[in-house]
Amino acid sequence: MGTKRTLVVGVGSIGERHVRCFQRTGRATLSICEVNENLCREIAERYQISQRWTSFEAALNHEHDLAVISTPAHLHVPMATRLAQHGIDLLIEKPLSTSLAGIDVLTSEIDRHDCMAAVAYVWRAHPMFQAVKRAIDSGRFGAPLNLIGVSGQHFPTYRPAYRDTYYTQHTTGGGAIQDAMTHLLNMGESLAGPISELVADAGHLALAGVEVEDTVHVLTRHGSVMGSYQLNQHQTPNETSVTVVCEQGAVRFEPHRGRWRWMTERGGSWSDESCELERDDMFVNQANALLDTLADKRPLLCTFAEGLQTLRVNLAVLRSVESRSWQSLEAD
Ligand SMILES: NC(=O)c1ccc[n+]([C@@H]2O[C@H](COP(=O)([O-])OP(=O)(O)OC[C@H]3O[C@@H](n4cnc5c(N)ncnc54)[C@H](O)[C@@H]3O)[C@@H](O)[C@H]2O)c1
Repeated sequence: MGTKRTLVVGVGSIGERHVRCFQRTGRATLSICEVNENLCREIAERYQISQRWTSFEAALNHEHDLAVISTPAHLHVPMATRLAQHGIDLLIEKPLSTSLAGIDVLTSEIDRHDCMAAVAYVWRAHPMFQAVKRAIDSGRFGAPLNLIGVSGQHFPTYRPAYRDTYYTQHTTGGGAIQDAMTHLLNMGESLAGPISELVADAGHLALAGVEVEDTVHVLTRHGSVMGSYQLNQHQTPNETSVTVVCEQGAVRFEPHRGRWRWMTERGGSWSDESCELERDDMFVNQANALLDTLADKRPLLCTFAEGLQTLRVNLAVLRSVESRSWQSLEAD
């Protein structure tokens, strides 16, 4: 099998990581498209990339097998639609978009040109998350009943440029709901099925220099499974945990400790399995999983349909915060 000609569109914070991590697979030949000329040149030099463009239309004039869309979220759908029209397979960064505008056209272009399309909810590439999902899907702990997701991070420490990026506005994919809570909700949907109803509260409590929400609480129903999620982007600990209480035990994913754990005896102790992982490793896993799908049609980690479902959830969370009311996704 030859390497896949892989175009990364937008090489800011996450796009550069995709360049590095696709290169690390040894299975992709990279090219880049970035409107910021200095950044485009810098990244091309840093990763010894010979093909680079500062205009999306110019990049479209060349042949690519795969494109990784790493621009701000309001650009994902128009760019994905143009790429699909050229028959190029797609990995689209999360969130899929900031609205449902253009989704029908994109879906029909993906179908018409028989493109593969995945959404980059990267936690699904974490081996310990995959262990949790396998355990739950196998029925080892019985049916899920209740899901509790808790996450927090000091955003200025990890993303110091947040005041100058898409993060400042909802319309470009900003705020804690579309930026970070969407990861937690997508993990919940992967483990407990699609969210059917939700109610949410959110506010701006601490992040300097922006007005978007930095703290979010969401109560969900995934059919009969009840969920509760909370997240902020200003606390000092950098911690995430997703607990699924099942009929015959509880299961927990704790990426900050690189482990998953389970408890089946009432009031007993946890059993743990862990692995050592650098942050890039998840992205290398995600890239390899995608290239595996292209090679032998193995299932995608997060399909376009699953990314679209989580987009509907993001939008329902935003509506719920605005209207202070429950939202049904079944009516969407
Ligand atoms: N999966 C993750 O863990 C993760 C982490 C961070 C960001 N993201 C997502 O990735 C996306 C990008 O986030 P980021 O933090 O890298 O943002 P960023 O602002 O650092 O980078 C975006 C880049 O896109 C470029 N760009 C804008 N318009 C363009 C165009 N028309 N053609 C080519 N390039 C263009 C910008 O110049 C910029 O360099 C967002 O949707 C964000 O939510 C995902």
